[in-house]
Amino acid sequence: MENNRGSFGSNLGFILAAVGSAVGLGNIWGFPYKMGLNGGFAFLLIYLVLAIFVGLAVMIGELAIGRKTGMSPVAAYRKLSKKFTWMGYMAVIVPFLILCFYFVLGGMVMRYALSYLTAIFGWDTWGVPVTEFFGTFICNGASVVIWTAIFIALNAFIVAAGVAGGIEKFCKIGMPALFVMLLAVIIYVAVQPGAMDGYKFMFGWNIEPLKTDFLGVLKAAAGQMFFSLSLGMGAMITYGSYLQKKESVQKNAVIIIVCDTLVAIMAGMIVMPACAAFLNGEYGGGPGLLFASMQQVFFNMGYVGNIIGFLFYGLVFIAAISSSMSLLEVITSFKVDQNIEAGKAPGRKKYAIIAAVIIFVFCLPVALDALGTGVENGAPIAYPAELFGIEVKGWNDCWLDFYDMLSEGIMMPLGAMVMAFMIGWIWKIDMVVEECELSGHKFWGKTFFDICYKIITPIGMAFVLYAQIMTFFG
Ligand code: PFF
Repeated sequence: MENNRGSFGSNLGFILAAVGSAVGLGNIWGFPYKMGLNGGFAFLLIYLVLAIFVGLAVMIGELAIGRKTGMSPVAAYRKLSKKFTWMGYMAVIVPFLILCFYFVLGGMVMRYALSYLTAIFGWDTWGVPVTEFFGTFICNGASVVIWTAIFIALNAFIVAAGVAGGIEKFCKIGMPALFVMLLAVIIYVAVQPGAMDGYKFMFGWNIEPLKTDFLGVLKAAAGQMFFSLSLGMGAMITYGSYLQKKESVQKNAVIIIVCDTLVAIMAGMIVMPACAAFLNGEYGGGPGLLFASMQQVFFNMGYVGNIIGFLFYGLVFIAAISSSMSLLEVITSFKVDQNIEAGKAPGRKKYAIIAAVIIFVFCLPVALDALGTGVENGAPIAYPAELFGIEVKGWNDCWLDFYDMLSEGIMMPLGAMVMAFMIGWIWKIDMVVEECELSGHKFWGKTFFDICYKIITPIGMAFVLYAQIMTFFG
């Protein structure tokens, strides 16, 4: 692209950055804990079905829209149809909402990784017995705010450095490193006595949970799939806008999905066997699995747990930052594109920093409510239900869940539903086919994708949306 928006230097750079966006806390934190709560294999099965029948079509659609228009979401949707500019705005608001909690979690992970690093050298920086660290840390508002601020500053620095000079550079080193670290931890866990039960939980045929709570598993897997693949919000449209015309959209979409799914399964192959070997098969640690249960696991390993703990949280850190930078990029490129359209200088640095500062302010409730611990239990501020004196539900039991309900819970399935509907019925699949074939590669599976856009994705997402709204407010 010969304008001053910036672009990736090579297709490998694009793939690594897009995989970097997809592979994140969703894979290493969300996937194992949701799998642990939703019946292991049954969850994996539904996840894979959704990735193939919904995720792939939406991924191709988003990359194609981005590349066709060469714009980030607001400008992209406006270019396609003025009436749907609101979809573009939603695709900027969702990353904003996600960052309000993602940045906090990223900062926490960074704190963990560094403390394991110092522990390797015998320097204890936990401040309390390791197994009590999580509870103490989240109630220490100042500390969580500071780590959040450091993590945000790193993000702003990378995004300000540009698409090729910042994001691509980081991901080219970070992604292969992450893969090697994952492998190392998987191998260590695999040779521990008792690990086998964890694999059985993940891969042993058991669809009982689908018979008892199909909608529950479907909803959990669908939300997870969108979040994990960075779909239903502007990220893949934005990255697609930097994809060169000679590259195959479909091939890249498949690579991103395969890599993302592989990493999620690999993360499961760390967490599940580790829980089997070191926590008596306690898989249902919920959101605390990454921070509390895994810390118990590393504690139970003895000294070597410091090294494995560092590798583990180190890789979570790389995964988290390569994702959060893609979210910040969506917001930054929104302003950059506006400026370019108005004939002004892009102002990338300035807007990356302004966006980071504004999001920091919105991160504060998440950083300060101790993940819903409650003021009487030592949290610096109240969680939403406590603050407003309303009944406690899944969306108001902590500020993180509140932002997550709006973004992952409602806006993402809604965004994907409308986008698929538009491609299926209004813009027609030929728009996607035409864009994909520009690279000289024949579009494969046209009938399959047409059915996905017209029927499977809109109806599937309507179900998911219904199930989400019922659990939040029913
Ligand atoms: N896919 C990321 C993860 O799995 O953690 C999160 C994410 C990144 C969501 C970028 C959305 C996005 F646009």
